[in-house]
Amino acid sequence: MNYRKLIDIAVKARENAYAKYSGFMVGAALLCEDGKVFTGCNIENLSYSLTNCAERTAIFKAVSKGNRKFKAIAVVGAPDVKKYDEDFCFPCGACLQVMSEFCDDDFEVILCKEGKIKVFKFCELMPNVFSSEF
Ligand code: THU
Repeated sequence: MNYRKLIDIAVKARENAYAKYSGFMVGAALLCEDGKVFTGCNIENLSYSLTNCAERTAIFKAVSKGNRKFKAIAVVGAPDVKKYDEDFCFPCGACLQVMSEFCDDDFEVILCKEGKIKVFKFCELMPNVFSSEF
């Protein structure tokens, strides 16, 4: 699975984003170690804090189907329905914390800006993790 393909799957998943309150639509595509891909979109709620991000939707779908080993996640998001890569859409802190439960330092976060793909290692985005070692 190449990076572009995973971004394309995230872009497609974004079509289902339920972003009624913010208008910011996000899509994610999570690649498992065995090659399976789980998609996610953000799902907002009138009680705003109940909103679920695209990344967590994808991770929860995967884990609920018995998958716990992940290689990479592609994330795209923007307020314009037709554009998706005006800027990198970095995962929020809550999503990084959820990723930290299942992903190691080499897990790749694949983002896209103006047609250019950039791959971040999980440890670059979250160098200090709240861990069970404490
Ligand atoms: N959002 C995501 O889906 N992923 C993130 O990592 C950051 C934010 C969503 C949540 C909300 O529906 C919208 O983007 C605006 O914050």
